[in-house]
Formats: sequence, structure tokens, C-alpha cells
Amino acid sequence: MRINKITGVNPKFIKIDLKDTLATHSVFNEHKDASGVIHFVAHKAVGEAVDQPLKYYKNNFYSLLNTLEAQSKNGINNFIFSSSSATLYGIPDILLITEKNETQRPFSPYGNTKKVAEEILDDLIRSNKAFSAISLRYFNSIGAHESGEIGEPPNGIPNNLMPYITQTAVGIREKLMIYVNDYPTKDGTPIRDYIHIVDLAKAHVIAVERLLNKDQETALEFFNLGTGIGYSVLDVINAFEAVTNSKLNYEITGRRDGDVPQFYAATDLTKEKLGWTVQKGLDEIVSSSWNWEQNLRNETQ
Ligand code: UFG
Repeated sequence: MRINKITGVNPKFIKIDLKDTLATHSVFNEHKDASGVIHFVAHKAVGEAVDQPLKYYKNNFYSLLNTLEAQSKNGINNFIFSSSSATLYGIPDILLITEKNETQRPFSPYGNTKKVAEEILDDLIRSNKAFSAISLRYFNSIGAHESGEIGEPPNGIPNNLMPYITQTAVGIREKLMIYVNDYPTKDGTPIRDYIHIVDLAKAHVIAVERLLNKDQETALEFFNLGTGIGYSVLDVINAFEAVTNSKLNYEITGRRDGDVPQFYAATDLTKEKLGWTVQKGLDEIVSSSWNWEQNLRNETQ
């Protein structure tokens, strides 16, 4: 319905648990004519993954393995994977991360699921020469569609920064807890590369075309999806306060397990090979998130 309002298209929606092998195979058996898969499925909260690693390994791997097995069996050989930058690159020695920086064990079980998933894809491609994949390594994707129709409604208490900010601003949460201000950054709060979800979505369209047109240089490619600019937690809060002309209630608290102090994306490879560049800045990210949160509240009232 919401997708239709924006695009005029009504995509077919089938609800299954991808951990369910039989159900997954059944869907792919019925859709052998599909040209490819974009696999977004994963638990994704860094802190929760440290507390509950098995939940993360089970969900992220079962769903991936069932999908890969069912699609390969049906000759569906194109695959786009939602990978992750932050966590996958471990605690980087340098701040600017290129696709070649994958040298350390990821700092959290969540990041490890993404790293091992990429290795699984590599093994699959070696065994099946018809199979091609692009792994898109997301930096911190936030924001919502400008219409306010599509965004992320977190289940329960948000784990991520942006929904926590907007929920605090509308009064659902009392205050935002900033996980420390003693990191070696300009203001002590961690630095991330925040990318607008619409920019991120557009990169998927380009990646799908690259796969379908067989434009890849290797059967498995990796691309960073980030802006190349790092913002601290306080930068995000300041941008939010400026855009909304309000004061956010927040408090500095202790470190969160699994957090990495700072990093942002090297985007040269993505620009060169995908011809993709970021179009939206932090202000648009923050204002679209705020618009989305307000629409959600209006709908639920
Ligand atoms: N933060 C707070 N308070 C909060 C929530 C977050 O201070 O209530 C801080 C975190 O310490 C971090 C920053 O805000 O420095 C961003 O935290 P998020 O939880 O929003 O994002 P992460 O960087 O931890 O991870 C997110 C996704 C991952 C993804 C990663 C990619 O949750 O799935 O971005 O960079 F892999």
C-alpha cells in the first residue's frame, strides 16, 4: 500500500520465516523465473548481538543458507547481500575504511555473521560458476522516505541512535543515553558515517542492473555504501536540534559493548565502479526521520 502510493506499483508480498527450510524452498520452487535476490534479512543490533550471540548466528545464518540453497537449486543465480561496514571491519587502525580493510575479526557477533556470510558467498561462487553476488557494505543507514510513508518503526525500545532521538523528542522515551564522551574523537562521542536510506536504496538498483547486465569484474564484488563523512553523536543531536528547533533531553552514560569508536567510508571504488554518489546530507537525513516519526504518531493516535 505505502509502496504503491510512492511508486504506483503493488509488489507481491509473501510472508515466511526464512529459517524455515521447507517454506523457503517452496517459495523459490514457485518463483523459478525470478532474476535474482536482494537479501536484507538479519538481526542487526550490535549490543544485543554481544549479549545473545547464538540468536544472531542462528537467525542470520539459517535465513542466508536456506535462501542460497533454495535459489541455487532453482537456477536463480544473482544475489545482492546487505553487509555491514562498521562491525565487519573490526576496530579499524585507520578511520577511513576501504573495501580492502577487512583484516580484523569483527568486534561483535553481528559483524561476524556478515563477515562469514561474505565468505560463504565466496565459497558458493567457487563451486557454482553461474552464481554472481554483490555485497553492499552499509555504513549507518538512517532517515526515511521524504513522503513520510516509509521508514523504520523499531520493535520495542530502539537500539539505534536516530529512532531513539526521534522517540525522545516526541516524548515516548524520557531521554537519550549517549554511550560515553571519552573516546579519542573531537567531542569524545563516537563517529559514524550516516547515509540516507534513499541514497542507499538507489545503490541497490544500480547493483541489480550491474548483476543483470553482467557488468561485474569478478563474480563476487564488495562495495562500501557510505558518504565518506564522519559525524559524532553530538553532531547528529545538534543537527536534529537545529532542524526541529527544539532541545533534546540526553545524558552521558557508560560504554556499550561492541561499539567501535570511529570510522567512515572510502567511497572511491563505489563511485568509480557503480557510478553512485550520495545526494542527501545530514540535515535531510534528520528532517526525514523527524517527518517519519511525526507521521507514525499521527497514525497511531
Ligand atoms: N548511540 C548512543 N545512544 C543510543 C544509541 C546509539 O549514544 O541510544 C551511539 C552509539 O554508541 C554509536 C552511534 O550512536 O556510536 C550509532 O549507534 P547505532 O546503534 O545507531 O549504530 P551502530 O553504529 O552501532 O550500528 C549500526 C547498525 C548496524 C550496522 C552499522 C553499520 O545497528 O546494524 O550501523 O555501520 F552494521
